[in-house]
Amino acid sequence: MKILAIESSCDETAAAVVEDGRRVLSSVVHTQIAEHRIYGGVVPEIASRRHIEKIDMVVQKALDNAGQTAHTIDAVAVTAGPGLIGALLVGVNFAKGLAFMAEKPLVPVHHIRGHIAANYIASPDLEPPFLCLVASGGHSLIVDVRDYTEFHVLGRSRDDAAGEAFDKAARAMGLGYPGGVALDRLARSGDDRRYPFPRPHVEGAPLDMSFSGVKTSVVNLLHNAAQKGDEVDLPSLCASFERTVCEALRTRLFAAAEQTGARVLSVAGGVSANTRLRAELIEEAARRGLRLCMPPLELTGDNAAMIGAQGYFEFCAGHLAPPSLNAVATLSVERGAPEHFAV
Ligand code: KG4
Ligand code: ZN
Repeated sequence: MKILAIESSCDETAAAVVEDGRRVLSSVVHTQIAEHRIYGGVVPEIASRRHIEKIDMVVQKALDNAGQTAHTIDAVAVTAGPGLIGALLVGVNFAKGLAFMAEKPLVPVHHIRGHIAANYIASPDLEPPFLCLVASGGHSLIVDVRDYTEFHVLGRSRDDAAGEAFDKAARAMGLGYPGGVALDRLARSGDDRRYPFPRPHVEGAPLDMSFSGVKTSVVNLLHNAAQKGDEVDLPSLCASFERTVCEALRTRLFAAAEQTGARVLSVAGGVSANTRLRAELIEEAARRGLRLCMPPLELTGDNAAMIGAQGYFEFCAGHLAPPSLNAVATLSVERGAPEHFAV
């Protein structure tokens, strides 16, 4: 079964054709990063306008590259939330029009479920149940993936998401937007013990996380140094920050594995591209004898292939949307059935 998938929840306009939830026939991503960079973050109004301008071309290219047309594919899947509402609506309305015109079923997909499903593409034999550490720009979660469309959140960040903390710390260091990748690169030549930060933890909720404290510590350290005229060793500040954040993510995932007895773990979301996080997870999973699945770097950030993967499993569960499908800005990963995206 071939699914045409569309993703427009933030600053990437993406379309893909995916077969049976695992095989990517085409994947096109048009990123707007350069345009938002001068503002230091995503400007929702600009994102929506660019999606409108590009979506036609991106979808056509995905169909062409897969040797398909709107009539030869079997269903249309689209990210219906969570995300920037104006950006989401561009993809949702385009998908609705296309599905109606070509008389194809319409499948709404939860963006975070999509990130998790990137693992089905990377590891074709992976099947639920497994645990997933989701670390993106908007979410940090420990998710118990009980079935393809059944999710239970075991832990979450109480404040900033990990990616958000990376971006804000990087911005304070003058590394530009989005800062995660730049911080990752600079950290490699730093001393990760040079600037010790307190380990963030949430009292009484061992699987929950908190990242705003370490982000504020970075900002304060930079302010104090600037006031005193002290030099800051930026690579070491990056490495120290990264060590603290990665440790928080890693320890929550393995604590969840201990708590649930899970033997299969995975990661998802933009921050799962982080060099240190990947290395630490590989090392600890090997030490504990657990299986660890990770999407390749091109499937960690926003893309439509992951939406096509999850779209297949939502379709198999009978999760088809009526033409009244709407987009929603916030929605727990536990809720992703069509009625949760209703008007
Ligand atoms: O999943 P994603 O592409 O978009 C959301 O759904 O939010 O995640 C984007 C986030 C950004 O905060 C970005 O800085 C971060 O992922 N990121 C990284 C790295 N690559 C992307 N953070 C740390 N290290 C990286 N290598
Ligand atoms: Zn995302």
